[in-house]
Amino acid sequence: MANSDAEVRQRKPQASSGKEDGSKQGKSRSSKSKIDDEDVYSPWVDIARVLTFFFVASCALSYLISGGESWFWGMQNPPNYLQKSWWENYFRGPIQMTPEELAAFDGKDESKPIYLSINGTIYDVSANRRVYGPGGSYNIFAGVDASRGFVTGCFKEDRNGDMRGVEEMFLPLDDYEVDKHYTADQLRQMRAEELAAAKEKVHDALKHWVDFFAKSKKYHKVGTLKREPGWQGKRKKLCEQAGQGRTPRKLPGAE
Ligand SMILES: *[C@@H]1O[C@H](CO)[C@@H](O)[C@H](O)[C@H]1NC(C)=O
Repeated sequence: MANSDAEVRQRKPQASSGKEDGSKQGKSRSSKSKIDDEDVYSPWVDIARVLTFFFVASCALSYLISGGESWFWGMQNPPNYLQKSWWENYFRGPIQMTPEELAAFDGKDESKPIYLSINGTIYDVSANRRVYGPGGSYNIFAGVDASRGFVTGCFKEDRNGDMRGVEEMFLPLDDYEVDKHYTADQLRQMRAEELAAAKEKVHDALKHWVDFFAKSKKYHKVGTLKREPGWQGKRKKLCEQAGQGRTPRKLPGAE
């Protein structure tokens, strides 16, 4: 009893002195929390602040100097993380698009990104608007899957993704003067081998472009093309230019 009474008495003056010096106490408490802050002070916050400041200042300066044309000092290919469309794609995930929907991304509408498709995979090529946009040398590939044109080189005629029959460009020409030196059986076998080799060449030629876009740092995948069965329509003739490299078979024994 006496013990606890003493405790109370001891506590009281302390408590009251705390109340009387309320303002002082408050001050010292806040200076203490300042010290606490300094204990956990991390230089990274300041570094991040400084870097952010320079980044924003650099963008603003670039914007002003370029007369509103560029936030990144006219950089042709700002890194992916500086591109709005890259973040949009990143969070949206791959999408499916019909050829009609894809057509709206041919660069005519400057507020939209530019898309193209290669072998049914859609890529955002906005990083090179100058080349893929209206008036650009590759604008013909924008808003479409022009895989056939990529392989035949006939950009105008072959602005489509129908690969049927393209192998013809790699087949030798039938030529009676040469072919008469072979038996019918030999010719049949040769033609089968020629066809297999030609199809492989088409695959390789297309793969070159498939890989080019897949590996590109500038362009990024958006999704895939959604095509109805029979989307190819009528079989197309090989364009003239693609057939120009064809030559007759070699004579027997010729290398
Ligand atoms: C193109 O796509 C088809 C079907 O998805 C696939 O079988 C083929 O291997 C692809 N070609 C290339 C060159 O990637």
